[in-house]
Amino acid sequence: MTSLLDRQVVFFGGKGGVGKTTCSAAFALAASRRNKRVLLVSTDPAHSTSDIFERHIGGSECELLPNLSAIEIDADRESARYVRDVKRDIERMFSPGVVRQAHRQIDMAAASPGLAEVALLDRMIDLIVEREQLFDLVVFDTAPTGHTLQLLRMPEAMTTWIQALVKHRRALLEIDRGSGGEQPAAALADPILAALERRHERLAQLRVRVTDRGWTSFVLVTIPERLAIEETARAADLLSDTNVDIGGLVVNRILPDGLAGEFYVSRKAQERSYLDEIARRFERLRRIEVRQLARDVYGLTSLTLVSDQLMR
Ligand SMILES: Nc1ncnc2c1ncn2[C@@H]1O[C@H](COP(=O)(O)OP(=O)(O)OP(=O)(O)O)[C@@H](O)[C@H]1O
Ligand SMILES: [Mg+2]
Repeated sequence: MTSLLDRQVVFFGGKGGVGKTTCSAAFALAASRRNKRVLLVSTDPAHSTSDIFERHIGGSECELLPNLSAIEIDADRESARYVRDVKRDIERMFSPGVVRQAHRQIDMAAASPGLAEVALLDRMIDLIVEREQLFDLVVFDTAPTGHTLQLLRMPEAMTTWIQALVKHRRALLEIDRGSGGEQPAAALADPILAALERRHERLAQLRVRVTDRGWTSFVLVTIPERLAIEETARAADLLSDTNVDIGGLVVNRILPDGLAGEFYVSRKAQERSYLDEIARRFERLRRIEVRQLARDVYGLTSLTLVSDQLMR
């Protein structure tokens, strides 16, 4: 995976429990040791990154090692922050009367489903677009596949959604003006319209970066087992549809060679046939095999064992 070191953003995704947190931490560690300034971002609600590095990380950037910082972002906290930020934007620009009315509308919007996703996306935009001076590489450890891919596809869906809202809002303002309340200046400076258009620009920026193949890559993590393989195939299709570069396929938890016993021989035979299937079905992806270690991966010593295999 050394070829991914010159990307600005690398996502790790895959089915639950396959090793996304382990591999993203191992990759971030390897990059930081090669003199990249790395930010490791966990969007996983379980926040296992803290466990791997054996220290509390939390919601603000903290430096774990030279060149390696980490942050754990949480959907609920981000939702609250998002609503607060939008309100603050509006307060800065408008009179108290307008603000009161706008706040009511925002509270209504905040209660609708999907806010958590929008808020998470907004925070990712912060980290990707606005932190690029501070970090050479941002590594995302994502929540299990479906959810993250939706997030990556969202800029497109949201662009359409926001455009529709903007159009609707404009039409409303036109009607207002036509019905005697003649205030072209107020229409131009409509707070909701301004906030929507600003968010729209941010999404467009994210969209451009995520689909820039020299900039962003998505690493799929899997294990040689049936359900994981099927989920990987779906994720690979979705990423290709979305025009996101797939930087590689990590096949994790490969059993060691040369053990004995009926149980082992049977597992190993199954593994061999799944590995063949993976080679066949994902022929076009670069595959990186990572062995199953004798113990769970936490602490720098065992993380280094994984990262050496990733960067081989
Ligand atoms: N190569 C490996 N050798 C031994 N243990 C491993 C290996 N890879 C991962 N593990 C262990 O498997 C467990 C799951 O790994 P990890 O937390 O990285 O998966 P995940 O995909 O992030 O899971 P989740 O979907 O729950 O976030 C952890 O206990 C981890 O230490
Ligand atoms: Mg995880």
